[in-house]
Amino acid sequence: MVNLINGRELSEKIVGKIALEVKNYDKKPGLTVIIVGEDPASKIYVNKKKKTAEKTGFNSEIIELPDNVSQQELEKYIDELNNNSAVDAILVQLPLPEHINTYEILEKIKPEKDVDGFHPVNVGRLVIGLDPYAVSCTPFGVIKLLEEYNIEIEGKNAVIIGRSNIVGKPMASLLLNKNATVTVCHSRTKNLAEVCSRADILISAVGRPKFVKAEWVKQGATVIDVGTNRTEEGKLVGDVDFEEVSKKAAYITPVPGGVGPMTIAMLLANTLELFKLHNK
Ligand code: GUN
Repeated sequence: MVNLINGRELSEKIVGKIALEVKNYDKKPGLTVIIVGEDPASKIYVNKKKKTAEKTGFNSEIIELPDNVSQQELEKYIDELNNNSAVDAILVQLPLPEHINTYEILEKIKPEKDVDGFHPVNVGRLVIGLDPYAVSCTPFGVIKLLEEYNIEIEGKNAVIIGRSNIVGKPMASLLLNKNATVTVCHSRTKNLAEVCSRADILISAVGRPKFVKAEWVKQGATVIDVGTNRTEEGKLVGDVDFEEVSKKAAYITPVPGGVGPMTIAMLLANTLELFKLHNK
């Protein structure tokens, strides 16, 4: 029988704990989110982040900028936030429009305010096993789920499908730091099914419905589905053929209610850590 990994439950527990802690402080942690353009999915995510942050007792602002904002203007906003002592955490929602150099934007954010852990200093610290100021929220949330369900990481074969800077790469570093044997697969990987079938922990962050098939999954594996895809009917589904894979996996995350809610919980956890760093 498969065990469902309930991300909604754990995220509520984490956010509840953060809300209690925040009540003890006479200042509120401050999170500012910058969103560029009109992408409806990004707008929904960003509003959800603000709403949850405020419910948890944080100050949260959204800076909405037009699609044609220049690199220079966007960097000016970041400079102002870097110098604003009421702002503990800065998040620039990705993806940015094509005319913007994303790397330069992320590098402009002070590492001590980089709530996504995307600044090269934080990425580098993660890779060498030095505590970063923050770790990318989604892979950090996956680690919290594995820990909550006592799923052993050390010595296990972990296979990640997807090599993005937001999920795949930081996920690999986190698992490696916890002594897993890590394989990162991508669009050029040969024999993907065979590589996946060796996984004790299989993590998919691809963005294609029913991409991960039951035949790829080892009996008793843990399957973590980071995919958030909309079907033509508007239903939210992951990357994993949930029904079939559930027959083989020992643990699986549903979509929705698995990894998704953990991303916001870890955003608040990261914001709180940065707030404490600034108020030591
Ligand atoms: N777009 C999709 N996921 C993320 C994330 O975790 N952080 C940011 N900044 N943008 C994203």
